[in-house]
Amino acid sequence: MPVPLMDIRGQYADLLDEVKRSVCEVIDSGRFILGPNMRALEEEIAAATGAGHAVAVGNGTDALVLSLEALGIGAGDEVITTAYTFYATAEAIARVGAAPVFADIDPVTFNLDPRAVEAAVTERTRAIVAVHLYGGPADMPGLSEVAGRHGLALIEDAAQAFGAAVNGRGAGSFGDLATFSFFPTKNFPAFGDAGMVVSGSADLAERVRLLRFHGSREKRRFELVGTNSRMDEIQAAVLRRFLPEVAGWNAGRRAAADRYRALGLGDLVELPSEAPGARHVYHLYVVRAAARDELARALSEAGIGCRAYYDVPLHLQPVFAHLGYRRGDLPETERASDEGLALPMFPTLDEAAQTEVVAAVRAAALAAA
Ligand SMILES: Cc1ncc(COP(=O)(O)O)c(C=O)c1O
Repeated sequence: MPVPLMDIRGQYADLLDEVKRSVCEVIDSGRFILGPNMRALEEEIAAATGAGHAVAVGNGTDALVLSLEALGIGAGDEVITTAYTFYATAEAIARVGAAPVFADIDPVTFNLDPRAVEAAVTERTRAIVAVHLYGGPADMPGLSEVAGRHGLALIEDAAQAFGAAVNGRGAGSFGDLATFSFFPTKNFPAFGDAGMVVSGSADLAERVRLLRFHGSREKRRFELVGTNSRMDEIQAAVLRRFLPEVAGWNAGRRAAADRYRALGLGDLVELPSEAPGARHVYHLYVVRAAARDELARALSEAGIGCRAYYDVPLHLQPVFAHLGYRRGDLPETERASDEGLALPMFPTLDEAAQTEVVAAVRAAALAAA
């Protein structure tokens, strides 16, 4: 039985008629931009994340760029982040004219190691961008402490982690600003591009609000050089219908992670783990295997969906060659890039399918032995 890497449609199959009705209501209303669904979603997500303020934008990349701009970060500034993430995290830093500085990760969580961040601070450092990779929260207490000690801003890239938490506190509520992506494969998906910035600061949220709409509060007066990055009403209507479902979807993902463990997958590969107090939402389920590429090949041949994400870390990407990093500079980042493999994970993944996955991993391990 083939098992796909992800099945986003399965989780909302029963809701589709309702969602289509909401989309039709938007079409009938004739209000497509800066409308009532977007504003209601902002309030709902401000409350759901515990951040207090939320600004809906066009996508998760713009959410990062606008957050950095709202902090006034630009040319001459350094921003410390991870090289084991999707390109957009560091691209946004470069996009505003600042220099990304890559710190190594904690091998257990795949996320920024606060000690490595601290060692990377210089007099030009202005901010830290932490990523909650694969849905597992970064060490926000540790990173907040480093940021506080050095007077740095802290941004959470929570694109993959809606609903994750640390010590009961939601991902997105720790940073000066936090960003979400609702790209259709995310654990909280839209039907197109969409993103959100959340913040505990009314002032920073207001700056993002201006920047997403040409630096304007209304249409004829322009206060800042901004951009056009608004979440449209159709995406907002879809996301409003899905928001109450995300906790249940995340619970389904967590149950699937527990089942992989119970089925003995941990005897064959290194499983993802949760730091004490952390609630992982398993946007992706990434195991480690020393012979990762062979395992990936064997699983693909057996019809099991899998994928090596971020197998070339950002410090070794051509776009950042001018920063002068070499292989060996970030050993844990490079090891994660070499060993990480995403296995099937989605809310409706069931025991029968997971038994197939574990059997295929076992067969691959035996063949390699
Ligand atoms: C960690 C991370 N940051 C940023 C982004 C960018 O989000 P978007 O694709 O909505 O621009 C993504 C997802 O694509 C992501 O996974």
